[in-house]
Amino acid sequence: MKSTVAVLAARLQKALHLAFELQLSSDSLLLPASNPKFGDYQSNVAMALSKQLGQTPRAIAEALIQHLDVDDMCESPQIAGPGFINLTLKTPYLEAQLQHMQLGDRLGIETIQTPQTVIVDFSSPNTAKEMHVGHLRSTIIGDCLARLLEFQGHNVLRLNHIGDWGTQFGMLITHLRTAYPDALTTANALALGDLTTFYKEAKQRFDEDPEFQAASRAAVVQLQSGEADSLKAWKLLCEQSRLAFEEIYQMLGVQLVERGESFYNPFLPDVVEDLAKAGLLVEDQGAKCVFLEGFTNKDGDPLPLIVQKSDGGYNYATTDLAALRYRIQHDQAERIIYVTDAGQANHFAQVWQVARRAGWVPETVELVHVPFGFVQGEDGKKFKTRSGETVRLKDLLDEAIARTQADLTQRLEAEGRQESREFIQQVAQAIGIGAVKYADLSQNRTSNYIFSYDRMLALQGNTAPYLLYAYVRIRGIGRKGQLEVEALPEVKEICLEAESEVTLAKHLLQLDEVIDAVSQDLMPNRLCQYLFELSQKFNQFYDRCPVLQAEEPLRTSRVGLCDLTARTLKLGLSLLGITVVERM
Ligand code: ARG
Repeated sequence: MKSTVAVLAARLQKALHLAFELQLSSDSLLLPASNPKFGDYQSNVAMALSKQLGQTPRAIAEALIQHLDVDDMCESPQIAGPGFINLTLKTPYLEAQLQHMQLGDRLGIETIQTPQTVIVDFSSPNTAKEMHVGHLRSTIIGDCLARLLEFQGHNVLRLNHIGDWGTQFGMLITHLRTAYPDALTTANALALGDLTTFYKEAKQRFDEDPEFQAASRAAVVQLQSGEADSLKAWKLLCEQSRLAFEEIYQMLGVQLVERGESFYNPFLPDVVEDLAKAGLLVEDQGAKCVFLEGFTNKDGDPLPLIVQKSDGGYNYATTDLAALRYRIQHDQAERIIYVTDAGQANHFAQVWQVARRAGWVPETVELVHVPFGFVQGEDGKKFKTRSGETVRLKDLLDEAIARTQADLTQRLEAEGRQESREFIQQVAQAIGIGAVKYADLSQNRTSNYIFSYDRMLALQGNTAPYLLYAYVRIRGIGRKGQLEVEALPEVKEICLEAESEVTLAKHLLQLDEVIDAVSQDLMPNRLCQYLFELSQKFNQFYDRCPVLQAEEPLRTSRVGLCDLTARTLKLGLSLLGITVVERM
């Protein structure tokens, strides 16, 4: 079924055509009303057209509603204030829509009519380094966006642009050769142990020992020329890193296709050559670069984007240029979404500018940076462990699960419930991981966010535990009615009577509008807010309306509303990457 707002916007378009012979895009013709006083949807198109048509907004609005055919969906349209058109949905329309929603597991939401090939470039940690909280944010946000776009029916490529190439490998390989020769001969990645320590050791030797430095530089050259032993050492390091990353992805339930920076190596010389052909390349103190438009240094001179250093090496930007070109030409991507911290905004703006000027980006391809803020500790400073070290992601997730498990055990004891260890672990895992994800996604991603276990694990407020608990409780209502409820037809006839029921019904119908909005502005917090409000509206309904004690046909209808609410929560949470539990 089409989303209500889409159908209404199309009707309004038709009215515009009939009344004024105007063809307007349906975008933002109609918005959800800011206040129930103004109905459910509101249009300010009459004001927007006043100048163009040389008529007062009220006259335009009046002409429009003359031609607006929404009788099957809405009460008669109202004109308010200077010329707003307010629409209020009719109860029979809501009932029919809700009935339809019950069919199938997409809750009546159609797949998109024109699916795109979309690349979501997310997570993207760096080999031989610890994945840090910034990568955690990228992983959680990127996964959510990918899930949502997949649900809509887009063809989504989830790419992990791992930093697995660069000069640091010279130092790492040299350290590996000299300090862990066994690891290299047995090709046993595990023999390397903790890579962060390994990285620190290597860095220290590099900083202190000129001979080690020289050997490292030679190792980079060897690696870049494809020398077999260096490649073997490099692969071993990547493999070891991959194991650590995989552990995190598995805990989070996140799927990614690894296509690290090294993948684009063979294309780098081409990139530089093509920039030269396009007349963009300038040699500046031995380095090859493109001078950027609109980016200047502190003296006001144009800033160069270096694509090949004077020693012949390539850098992060060159790789991103190659990646962008490959993604457009080879993957045929129509939309490319990069999920990184806000600090990389300039990097992307610069790379895209150069790619556009080189003619690699057709007009139809949309490039989007999805920036996010920093993770802060509860003191508002950079997120660190008590002893001031960077927090290991594995420890962070383990801690969230452990705390949930402790809370849960306590609660079960207080309730006198006996549950298996397995049950407790499974529930703690779902809630703990869900809480970490939700805490991140429910914030406006562009702001910094404060990491607080207490806040994210709270059973009250806009948290995952609250929503997961709401889900369990609603499911429980159905179970209480036992067989009788299960004997009800799959599609229950809906009849809406009480006001809180109508409010809930309207909210249920907005899921596809919210999904649509998030697919455009890529703000997952909208979906979180929607789900939070859903459970609040459900609570109001449940407080005021008897369900199992109601008379027919209300009883069946209300069981149907409970069921739809639970399914909407489950679907919405799944798009956030959060798994529900049936009991907790
Ligand atoms: N590895 C980079 C980092 O840790 C993120 C890569 C993002 N993706 C990209 N195509 N540049 O900051």
